[in-house]
Order: sequence, then structure tokens, then C-alpha cells
Amino acid sequence: MTGLTRRTFLGSAAAAAALPRLAQAAPAVLEAGPVVKRLAPEGYGEAQLWGYDGGVPGPELRLRQGDRLSRRLVNSLSQPTSVHWHGIRIDNAMDGAAGLTQAPVAPGDSFDYDFALPDAGTYWYHAHMRSMEQVGRGLYGALIVEEPDGGPEVEADIVLALDDWRLAENGDLAGGWDDLHDKAHAGRYGNWPTTNGAAEWSRQVRKGDRLRLRVINTANARIMPLTLAGIEGWSVALDGMPLDSPDPVTGAITLAPAQRVDLIVDVTAEAGETAELRHGSGDGSFTLASFPIDGVGTSSRRPAPAPLPPNPRTAAPDLTAARRMTLAMEGGAMGGMDAATLNGKRVEMRQLVDAGMVWALNGKTGRPDDPMTEAARDEVLWIEMVNDTAFPHAMHLHGHHFREVAEDRLGPLRDTLLLDRRESREIVFAADNPGDWLLHCHMLGHQVAGMVTWLRVA
Ligand code: C2O
Ligand code: CU
Repeated sequence: MTGLTRRTFLGSAAAAAALPRLAQAAPAVLEAGPVVKRLAPEGYGEAQLWGYDGGVPGPELRLRQGDRLSRRLVNSLSQPTSVHWHGIRIDNAMDGAAGLTQAPVAPGDSFDYDFALPDAGTYWYHAHMRSMEQVGRGLYGALIVEEPDGGPEVEADIVLALDDWRLAENGDLAGGWDDLHDKAHAGRYGNWPTTNGAAEWSRQVRKGDRLRLRVINTANARIMPLTLAGIEGWSVALDGMPLDSPDPVTGAITLAPAQRVDLIVDVTAEAGETAELRHGSGDGSFTLASFPIDGVGTSSRRPAPAPLPPNPRTAAPDLTAARRMTLAMEGGAMGGMDAATLNGKRVEMRQLVDAGMVWALNGKTGRPDDPMTEAARDEVLWIEMVNDTAFPHAMHLHGHHFREVAEDRLGPLRDTLLLDRRESREIVFAADNPGDWLLHCHMLGHQVAGMVTWLRVA
């Protein structure tokens, strides 16, 4: 064998430049493995979960805009896995889409993630392999990228990772990770909500405190209508990206799976009372997070917060230059789909059901071999998503944020958009991040049952 030996390698100029890097310590580990934790109330058993670094959720990763995140995923699970850094406009090779951007990481193996964080905001990371089960068992955590100046002045900056578990009678997770009924309907809905892994999450505050709440919907399928009680304020960012101006919270804020909202709120309830983040309002509503009020911080209301500083490369795309296309969303129970292409072959619905593949995008079920489109670098794509199904879907694009176009007006930047049943919505974005990027439903049972495609950016 000629060429590269250790000796010639070390002697080369490139290697000399690389040496300081090689000398660096190995990256910090992020270990995926089993976690045993009681989710249910006292008196019930523990649940067999999977988590990162022994916790559910995994560690809160908090860095500054412009930093690099560097973690060695170590797989101590009994099945292959990968980590996706949801919402980060990331280097494609680090996106963690197992099977597309990297090979699955086998049990006992590891994979080094190392990438820049271009945007400040609230993001999250989660497994991207058999996600319905892996995320469903707890393989997720918050990824917070702080503004360079540390962000707006608040008394507390609090992550609220909301989840929705399906527990069995004994307090363990219910099985049925491959349940076709769930997949063909609304997805795996649970019966037990948690916030930051706790059934009754709470944090003491004072009247008048200003809080930044970073709310993340990590649920498998549940769409969450969020309401505030005893706290008032503004949405300042969606899916990590700052809004042009803070938006006063009046009614419920709908958060679909994978979506985030950053709130800046003031505690208005009186000392001795408890402020709350709630799921819904009125009958059937329940508490997601409580803020018991102990004393008075500031007694006078403060002015509305300034908008968060915009992230780079977020100028509105030129609609006149856009290439338009349609994404037909079909299938599911009561969807009326009669066939779809599976692995390149046209297959009748009956056989699709046998194969557990019941949703399709543009007539294809499962991630197709070919991308739905190939975009030139910086090309503006305008995609009309047509939900011709009887269920809502939360459509997520990797590697980019997009804006919704409605009546020729552009909405806020998002990475996940909720479409109601039988609803059409249009998104537009500049394909400015080269690589292969998934576009899929974030109801994880829909994703695994076929609602996934991808696009290639040159
Ligand atoms: Cu948050 Cu492809 O996923
Ligand atoms: Cu869906």
C-alpha cells in the first residue's frame, strides 16, 4: 500500500495545521441509553424509558449564538439511533437524518456531532431513527442558543418541554409502538402529560417577575392549545426565530408537535396564588406548569419587551422569482387513498395497510429514492401543501426555516407548520443550505407510516 502512512501524514503541511485539533480533548459525550423513572403519581410503578445522559428529558444544552456544539453520541441502546438537531440551520452532514445524511449508529458505536449554531433561539434535539418509539420513550432534550448579549432582561429563563405519555395501569409506558390504528389516525396520543419530565412541574416566582418561557412540544402527536393564567405577556419567537414585533397573548397558542414558542410574561397573580401554563381552558383543561407566587418582586407593570434581534439570513424571499410546486398529502383512515408508490412500485391500499404504510406525499409512501425536487443553491421554492386527509399534520422541513404565504402576505419564520384536516397552506423559502433535507410530518406515527419526502439543494 502506497500513499498515506502515519509518517507521511504527520509530515504533511495539512497535518501540521490539523495537529492542534487532533490534540484537543474528545468531545463531551451524549449517551443514549435506558432510563428508569416514575412518571405516574406516587404509588404507581416506574416507567422503562430511553434518554440521554441518564435523564428524560436529556440535558439542557445551552450555548451562545455563533458557538459550535460538539457532542459524541454514544449508543447504549439495543437498537440503532441518531440525533437530529431540530430547527438548527445545520451543516447537512450533522443533521442526523439516519439513512439520508448519515448511517444509523449501531448499538455500542458512536458518532461525533460538531457544528456551528448560526441562530439564537429555542431548539431541541431528538432521536431520528424509529422516532415514534425512540422519541416516544424519551430521547429528546432542549437546545437553547442564547442571544450574544444574553437576551432580554428577565428574572428567569425557563425551558418547558411538554410531553404526552401513554401509560399503562402499572405506570410503565403502554406498548403498541407499531400500532397501525394510531398511525392511520391522529398518531399516538397519551393519557399523561409531563413538563420537563415531571407530572407536576412547578417553580416559585414573585409577583411582578418577568419570565422568559421557552415552550417546546415534544409530544408524539398531541396538538396543544396553551393558555396562561395569572401571567400575561407576549410571544416573541416561534420555532426559535424572533417575531418582528412581540405579539400580545390573548387567546390560546396552538403548539403542534415539534413547534416552539418563546414567551415573555409578567406574573400578575397575587402573592399566595399560583400562576399557570395550562392545556386548554375551561372543562377538560389541565395544568402543565405551575408558578406559586411567593412575595412581590416588582409591583409596577413594565413596558412591552423590545423584539429579539433578528437572526442572520432571514430576509423575505423574492416571491416573483419563486418556483412553485405542490405537495399532495394523502392517506390515513377515512382518507380515500386507493394506492401509492412504495419502493418504486405502485401498491394497492390493502397491501399498503399490510405493510404498515398508509400515508403518502405526492403519491409516494415512505422516503423515496429520489428527492421531491432538486433546487439550485439559493433558489426560492414555493410549495403548496394540500392536506387531502381527515387528520391534521405538522409538516417539518429540515435545514431551513420557511414563511407561510397567505393572500400574498408572508408569515413569520417557522420550521414546522400545522395543517388542519383538508386544509391547504403555502410555504416559501430560499433553498440556501446545500444538502439533502427531509420534509415530513412530525406526528411521528405518520412519519413512520409513510408521510416523509426530501429535497436536494445543490
Ligand atoms: Cu424534529 Cu425530522 O424532525
Ligand atoms: Cu401527519
